[in-house]
Amino acid sequence: MSHHLINDSYHNTIAVFPGSFDPVTVGHIDLIERSTAVFDEVIVAVACNQEKTPLFTVKERIEMIKDIFSENQRVKAETFGGLLIDYLVKRDAHVIIRGLRAVSDFEYEFQMALMNRKLAPGIETFFMTSSALYTYVSSRIVKELASLGGDVSDLVHPLVEEKIKAKYA
Ligand code: PNS
Repeated sequence: MSHHLINDSYHNTIAVFPGSFDPVTVGHIDLIERSTAVFDEVIVAVACNQEKTPLFTVKERIEMIKDIFSENQRVKAETFGGLLIDYLVKRDAHVIIRGLRAVSDFEYEFQMALMNRKLAPGIETFFMTSSALYTYVSSRIVKELASLGGDVSDLVHPLVEEKIKAKYA
């Protein structure tokens, strides 16, 4: 076993899935569901102070995630500020989950994972792939499409679609 890990096993592990989630997409939902099959608890951590002009407030984003996963006790949603690794330490979590869609995601994700490892060697980043069906889905695409009157029903949960429609009404 490696000496570098703070915990030498991933049983009873809390994983943090950080991001902007403005808004949560079917790709995120797929990753969250897959994560709960591996980790005991998955905290979806909505970053505050990320974008200057978000569509949804952090509170709205958290509410949507909570509503979607209201039946799943293993999924929590909350906000965090400051450094991600400080937040993990506060929550006694050792795993960061990030999704990879395409090679274009890789460079930034690799840099972030290595920076986080430098800051906190005991925390591991786990990369996951969502269903191939969702390769092209992103929050940015959802917002662009919705703002132009496009149909986003395949890209977001019905609860989110309703909220987006209200925003652009
Ligand atoms: O999915 P996103 O929107 O690109 O999320 C990026 C996020 C929020 C995970 C990342 O920017 C982050 O961790 N921000 C918190 C500040 C931090 O810890 N930065 C150092 C990482 S190298």
